[in-house]
Amino acid sequence: MHDSKLPPLPELPMDRLLNFSTPVSWGITDTQRFHHLMDEAKSLVSGGYYFGDNLFTWGRNNSALEDTAFTQSLAANVQNGSDEAITWRRYLLACSAAHAIHLEGDFVECGVYLGTGMKTVIDYFGKEAFGKTFWGYDTFDYHPTQGHGFDGQQAGLFQKVQERFADYPQVRLIQGFLPDSFAQGCPERIAYLHIDLNNAEGEIASLEHLWDRIVPGGMVVLDDYEWSGIYRPQKRAEDLWFQQRGYRVFPLPTGQGFVIKR
Ligand SMILES: C[S@@+](CC[C@H](N)C(=O)[O-])C[C@H]1O[C@@H](n2cnc3c(N)ncnc32)[C@H](O)[C@@H]1O
Repeated sequence: MHDSKLPPLPELPMDRLLNFSTPVSWGITDTQRFHHLMDEAKSLVSGGYYFGDNLFTWGRNNSALEDTAFTQSLAANVQNGSDEAITWRRYLLACSAAHAIHLEGDFVECGVYLGTGMKTVIDYFGKEAFGKTFWGYDTFDYHPTQGHGFDGQQAGLFQKVQERFADYPQVRLIQGFLPDSFAQGCPERIAYLHIDLNNAEGEIASLEHLWDRIVPGGMVVLDDYEWSGIYRPQKRAEDLWFQQRGYRVFPLPTGQGFVIKR
């Protein structure tokens, strides 16, 4: 049986072993020595390794790289080295979307930045084939936490991101500080929610506003949940918030976490 809502998966040659390697990871004290040692480590493992975004695994299928609809979407949308490094994270978004596309309700991303996450997901299905409304919330032109701005977060960014989605009538971009900007528009029913604000207050406030709108089976992906250090307050806040509702977040090796609404 073929489900026309999903992009087809290609035939799998049984002898294929794909490797993925990017120089982009974070929290490294001596970059040169680290990469020297990792080059040696890669040479000592069986193939099928993924190296980047603070992950080093081997003996993996690297499914993201085998799904040609995804690799094409990723390649068409990559803006910088970080986008490439987070290939596995992005593929988890695409797979979450492949689950949520069958449910009633819209797609939502809190924390859009350049829109690459949203666009990679939509293009995975095919621009015209993606039949959901996708809402994206961000301040765009500035980062709400001083000193945390991303490259290009300055006056004019919102317009640039709007231009990126000019041919995507399914996309509704809302500019403003969350949770206040939900007042400008917010879907009644949500099938897919990606929260990527990098701060506990904004993420909890977004969950408070959106949780009851998520349909049973709806996917919630928390981009920073399993990252330690400066991101740890997000885990603490989200663990408590979900515990009160009888949920445990699935921690992922990619640094993300996810929950499926009952
Ligand atoms: C890591 S970036 C998002 C990346 C994007 N999800 C992607 O996949 O490419 C985080 C974004 O969250 C936004 N942000 C953080 N707190 C916010 C808040 N309270 N209201 C609106 N936007 C916020 C920042 O402006 C920034 O653009």
